[in-house]
Amino acid sequence: MAACTKAPEPYQWQLPEGFPAPLVPEDNPMSQAKVTLGRHLFYDRNLSANASQSCADCHQQQYAFAEPKVTAIGSTGEAHRRNSQSLVNVAYNGSFTWAHSGLSHIEQQLLIPLFGEKPVEMGISGHENEVLARLDTPQYHALFKEAFPGEEVSFSLVVKALASFVRSLLSFDSPFDHYAYGGDDSALSDSAQQGLALFFSEQLECHHCHGGFNFTQSSKHERQQLDLRPFHNTGLYNEDGQGAFPIADQGLIEISQQSRDMGHFRAPSLRNVAVSAPYMHDGSLATLEEVIDFYAAGGRGNGINSPLKSPFVKGFEITDAQKQDLLAFLHSLTDPAFLNNPRHGPPKP
Ligand code: HEC
Ligand code: HEC
Repeated sequence: MAACTKAPEPYQWQLPEGFPAPLVPEDNPMSQAKVTLGRHLFYDRNLSANASQSCADCHQQQYAFAEPKVTAIGSTGEAHRRNSQSLVNVAYNGSFTWAHSGLSHIEQQLLIPLFGEKPVEMGISGHENEVLARLDTPQYHALFKEAFPGEEVSFSLVVKALASFVRSLLSFDSPFDHYAYGGDDSALSDSAQQGLALFFSEQLECHHCHGGFNFTQSSKHERQQLDLRPFHNTGLYNEDGQGAFPIADQGLIEISQQSRDMGHFRAPSLRNVAVSAPYMHDGSLATLEEVIDFYAAGGRGNGINSPLKSPFVKGFEITDAQKQDLLAFLHSLTDPAFLNNPRHGPPKP
């Protein structure tokens, strides 16, 4: 007779009706047990080599899993050159991080904070056994057994569980959602509705790069598997008149080695953007007002004249009242249920 193991219950995505489910790698199907284990790991500082930092220290729920620091600081105090990204509907991403075209699954991306040495984030490299030994507790035994019956605890399982937790962080309950998809005309103020119209106008062009239900071009799901090229130069810098970005961070060109990718970064999702300040890959814009002024000017400083800047960042006239409208729209993408959902918060000890 075959050994009797409990079949994992099919995972229930918390999606509003009609939304496509995210695509998940075949070797890591979703299960509630993996999400639960991943949540414990996400909030556990024991996962960094010196036991001082968890994923959640840089990705804090109240800030849509971003953090208020301009740029991140790793567990050993080493400075990261980039701003911590929010983790909202990442399950749909077609690419990961601010500027990488070669990471196609969360599982691949997570190896960077866990094991990366430039910069050190959680710093596990060289401390693998030490960190795994800290997971040798009755509670983790039970959680791993539930999530991966019969498998030995390993970093491969740690990564699968963390990826499953990140995939469970879905936000579809903002006033904008109620208005656009829930048929509730009163969910948006008049001002936010004006702002929505501006966002989708050919004058402001925002929607060209922040499109679809996640307000990014980098989305994949079961009904649309083709990824558009989601990276753009928005004219933040132009060091040499030819469009060069500061040597510390030149964006996609570092990965692709193609000169046209200088200063190209991914258009991030704008869901919950009002709580994830500061903005841009280097956190160099402090507020949404500054972001709007930046686009209205058609870039920043010499960046305005960068030959590599996207033609969609062409600058525009905007009145103070219109600016307030656009802000009201961006604020309508804030989903308080997501930011306060106890299922996404630290597990009870
Ligand atoms: C030191 C702070 C820090 C820690 C710790 C950290 N992250 Fe991040 N995270 C970042 C930064 C900064 C980025 C952007 C990286 C880049 O663009 O190069 C990022 C990007 C990501 C992304 C990509 C999101 C997207 O939209 O593409 C995911 C997913 C993620 N982190 C999950 C995690 C998980 C899970 C952990 C724990 C294993 C973790 N992070 C630990 C700072 C951190
Ligand atoms: C050409 C494509 C493009 C257009 C047009 C565009 N954006 Fe962006 N947006 C981007 C990219 C790329 C980034 C990231 C840039 C970086 O980090 O260097 C970004 C970043 C942002 C951010 C910061 C998000 C964060 O998490 O840091 C906000 C807010 C934003 N855009 C809003 C808008 C608004 C509002 C408009 C219309 C006025 C607009 N964008 C037009 C591509 C675009």
